[in-house]
Amino acid sequence: MTRKLFIKTYGCQMNVYDSERMADILAPLGYAETGSPDDADMVILNTCHIREKAAEKVFSELGRIRKLKERRRAAGADMVIGVAGCVAQAEGDEIVRRAPFVDIVFGPQSYQHLPEMVARAARANGQPVLETDFEVEDKFDRLAETPGRSGPTAFLTIQEGCDKFCAFCVVPYTRGAEYSRSAPEIMAEARRLVASGAVEITLLGQNVNAWHGAGPDGGADWALGRLVRELAEIDGLQRIRYTTSHPLEMTVDLISAHAEVPALMPYLHLPVQAGSDRILRAMNRRHDRDTYFRIIDKLRDARPDLALSSDFIVGFPGETDRDFADTLNLVTQVKYAQAYSFKYSPRPGTPAAAESVQVAESVKDERLQSLQALINEQQAAFNADMAGRTMPVLLERDGRHAGQLVGRSPYMQAVHLEAPVTLRNRIVDVTIIEGRANSLSGRLARNPDVVDAA
Ligand code: 5AD
Ligand code: SF4
Repeated sequence: MTRKLFIKTYGCQMNVYDSERMADILAPLGYAETGSPDDADMVILNTCHIREKAAEKVFSELGRIRKLKERRRAAGADMVIGVAGCVAQAEGDEIVRRAPFVDIVFGPQSYQHLPEMVARAARANGQPVLETDFEVEDKFDRLAETPGRSGPTAFLTIQEGCDKFCAFCVVPYTRGAEYSRSAPEIMAEARRLVASGAVEITLLGQNVNAWHGAGPDGGADWALGRLVRELAEIDGLQRIRYTTSHPLEMTVDLISAHAEVPALMPYLHLPVQAGSDRILRAMNRRHDRDTYFRIIDKLRDARPDLALSSDFIVGFPGETDRDFADTLNLVTQVKYAQAYSFKYSPRPGTPAAAESVQVAESVKDERLQSLQALINEQQAAFNADMAGRTMPVLLERDGRHAGQLVGRSPYMQAVHLEAPVTLRNRIVDVTIIEGRANSLSGRLARNPDVVDAA
């Protein structure tokens, strides 16, 4: 019997990966994914706890899902409701208390037990089943036994957790201590992904460039630069990316991989969070602004066409106008292709939440607006600058109109163009006609010459 599974994913790409694996694990039980919760037999919210709003959104979504469950019950069917991810990890008890109609609550390191949890929930007579252990190793062992699916682009989690303890961040508490999967395990998963059609792999980790995995046959540990070089040898793997990185882990070897490995895409997400040394120190980021500039200089020396993105927090406790001006100034100097910015939101249990000098909401609003205006301007300029260039584009999906496809540039820009559907999943040369605020339009450069040998 097929049963319908609806998973709603919040937050980072790590959650996207986790959601895909949950679907893989549930497939043998007869669950197939559906696009809407309305008639689903199981609904899972894979949650994010990074900012306040994220958690609140989960509770209001749960209110809506509860109504669907009641409607299904009235019709003689049922619905299993699961809450996964970092809100579940951090606030499992709170969820059970505030939303007792939820059947299973499980953290990011527990979802390998989903089949058992579903069975336990069925026997539990409406009592929620809660699992928030940290058994990362066990999780990856179990996942390795589960066949996955793949399109032309795939995520591969290589590292989880974080030991950095930035003063604002819940990740070290929700995802736990740094854990790296072993190199042979990662290589095997990458080969499987490529065999099932992936031409681009994005390596994921909260602190991905801190990855250090045991090499094959108990040999010396590999670091990320080595892993990237080895992955690039896999036949058919054309593009490699990794995210999210911490500036302090940008080693010489990793930087030189950017110079030496053509498959490593010239685009790097390297969050700096703030531009003022005082705030960087208060955030416990462990580096100053100058160090960040020096790392970027080295990266650009290694790979002159490298584009950068970053995350920023405005209104961290104690942030003055002057500190904020330093952030704007840093952005002006670096020139980002893209960046994400957030208002600081105090997270329970983190050191910064206990600071007495919190910044007023109205000030945060103003700062966010001016920072986003600057970032949008830079993004538009970066995109506009693509016009006239020819670049390899991975054609990922159908466009809005017949005869159109949408692809990804090396810089993660969406590229819209007219192309035959037979080119889908291929990397082709595209000449960019126009760069807009959020996407590019282009045309096939040498139709039907295809860049890759697929
Ligand atoms: N408030 C606002 N933004 C935050 N981030 C992490 N914690 C907080 C917080 N408490 C942002 C950081 C991080 C991104 C994923 O979310 O910029 O890089
Ligand atoms: Fe959070 Fe800092 Fe770790 Fe990134 S490096 S996950 S911001 S604690």
